[in-house]
Amino acid sequence: MGNGMQTETEKEVGKEFEKEFEKIGTENIADRKKEAGAEIEMKTPPEKTGDVIIEGIDIVRTFRMGEVQVRALRGVSVKILHGEFIAIMGPSGSGKTTLLNQLGLLDTPNSGKVIINGIDTSLMSDKEKGKFRLHNLGYVFQDYALLPELNASENVYISLMMQGRSKAEYESAAAEILAAVGLGDRLAQLPSKMSGGQQQRVSIARALAHKPIILFADEPCANLDSQTSKEVLDLFKKFNKEYGQTIVMVTHEDWHAAYTDRVIRLKDGMLE
Ligand SMILES: Nc1ncnc2c1ncn2[C@@H]1O[C@H](COP(=O)(O)OP(=O)(O)OP(=O)(O)O)[C@@H](O)[C@H]1O
Ligand SMILES: [Mg+2]
Repeated sequence: MGNGMQTETEKEVGKEFEKEFEKIGTENIADRKKEAGAEIEMKTPPEKTGDVIIEGIDIVRTFRMGEVQVRALRGVSVKILHGEFIAIMGPSGSGKTTLLNQLGLLDTPNSGKVIINGIDTSLMSDKEKGKFRLHNLGYVFQDYALLPELNASENVYISLMMQGRSKAEYESAAAEILAAVGLGDRLAQLPSKMSGGQQQRVSIARALAHKPIILFADEPCANLDSQTSKEVLDLFKKFNKEYGQTIVMVTHEDWHAAYTDRVIRLKDGMLE
């Protein structure tokens, strides 16, 4: 289901990319690399499948709406293991997007914390969080959030550029991951010339291009018909099974949840 929060997040991420893309065009890549990678070399894969990769501890998130306090999350604790494919489910307004945004470091809780791969992310500055996201996390949104003026390949390699990789490296990485999502012949195609399913596959390629520790997806199939949804879920399953990709996906549909290993169920901002 659409809601203001998600759209704002999408816009923010899009803007972040756009800003960075402009900078990259004019900046020396070596300086960029120093800036992006030197301080935070946090890409340390966990020991093995089954280790705890992400832990949310007593997360509280409230929003102020004029006079009213909306208690979106009222003390949620979750543990997700490396290699798990998780569904977050619950009625509309139960806090699914809010929880995903806390676990994915797109928002900051009022209290509680999120530990990712042993790192207490509550100790990070906003800038550090930004870098951590760029290097370690991947996101898929229901509206794809592709940049319309960039073709498939450019949309995918932008985050690799931001990490300071060489042109040869990011171009071949984009081609490889686009082939893996079945779009090897669409590298130069603009999003406006693609179907919804194809656009979502580009956004999945973008989310996975830098081999994130965790892939977060908020209702990735919400705008797709059931056949196309199935193709997207099959892709997630493939990356989960073949590469051990940890995936945390919000969904409304029981048949989507059937693709996952485990369901985290929310009701009124709490675990059910
Ligand atoms: N930015 C915000 N400002 C104010 N209230 C918010 C904000 N974001 C979310 N909320 C409120 O927090 C609660 C949980 O919202 P959330 O978006 O997490 O629900 P959801 O389970 O993802 O719902 P849906 O299935 O409709 O997407 C709702 O009552 C919502 O109105
Ligand atoms: Mg939502």
